[in-house]
Amino acid sequence: MAVSYKELGLVNTREMFAKAVKGGYAIPAFNFNTMEQMQAIVQAAVKQKSPVIMQVSKGARNYANGTILRYMAQGAVEYAKELGCANPQIVLHLDHGDSFELCKDCIDNGFSSVMIDGSALPYEDNIALTKKVVEYAHQHDVTVEAELGVLAGVEDEVQAEESHYTKPEEVIDFATRTGCDSLAISIGTSHGAYKFKPEQCTRDPKTGRLVPPPLAFDVLHAIEKKLPGFPIVLHGSSSVPQDEVDTINAHGGKLPDAVGIPEEQLREAAKSAVCKINIDSDSRLAMTAAIRKYFDEHPEHFDPRQYLKPARENMQKMYEHKIVDVLGSNNKL
Ligand code: G3H
Ligand code: 13P
Ligand code: ZN
Repeated sequence: MAVSYKELGLVNTREMFAKAVKGGYAIPAFNFNTMEQMQAIVQAAVKQKSPVIMQVSKGARNYANGTILRYMAQGAVEYAKELGCANPQIVLHLDHGDSFELCKDCIDNGFSSVMIDGSALPYEDNIALTKKVVEYAHQHDVTVEAELGVLAGVEDEVQAEESHYTKPEEVIDFATRTGCDSLAISIGTSHGAYKFKPEQCTRDPKTGRLVPPPLAFDVLHAIEKKLPGFPIVLHGSSSVPQDEVDTINAHGGKLPDAVGIPEEQLREAAKSAVCKINIDSDSRLAMTAAIRKYFDEHPEHFDPRQYLKPARENMQKMYEHKIVDVLGSNNKL
């Protein structure tokens, strides 16, 4: 039997995005696969009084089971209330939906927002698929994120190629014909912990660390001009904190030259029409760093609660930092 997100206490993105664009901040979209990530996200959002998007990829559904994740999102709403938040603003969002059938299944099963990622398709096919998802989603008051332009990384073999950036001259036609509620764009971000190849970066002579090339803010501003006030989404926006990378490497890990998007650039983006910023890799790094350190320091321990507790605490710290110091979505409930 179909279940509406409204019965679960979730909200769609419409009002949240309108406020964020107006207010010059961005809503955090954190991916989750595990209970500890869910708890850390809710604790951070409640403590900092932030709306939050909890997003689930196809891989997360395969890993954790879609039904379990839906009940976890419902649990997140109840947990937020238990922590003292009278009116939690939590979105359950499908990340990188790749077919109408997957989006429909999520809409029918309690998701309040879906992404249809037709960015790898020819332009007209992307429009047709997105439009089909929008028509179904809007019948259920579910909001739809679409994507135009190709992100390097999971979506393409080529890293941060300018030729894959979103073309500002296409966005009006795309948004109008599809009716999508928000648009993910490509301006040089990419997924994962290796966003740039060393040859695309310079090196800080003092630290020896890679300094990535800047995001294409000119493209972002051109898009904003074409679609004033329209909600824009940035994927691939982890910063790959170097202290977490160092901790991982100091405790048996091997992440050489992992590099992300500098926080000052995300701060600047959050002030623009960018109103949703996707972060997954930084959570993976925070969790892995804490667990590797714990294993190294306590080789005699084997109760998962012992090492998952510091992992959860480290993720919560990272989520709060993003909310308060990067996106500016704190004190908005
Ligand atoms: O866009 C990619 C997200 O980080 C989700 O990653 O497909 O490995 O769950 P995943
Ligand atoms: P990161 O890999 O930079 O965390 O990006 C996550 C993302 O865009 C999920 O859709
Ligand atoms: Zn993404």
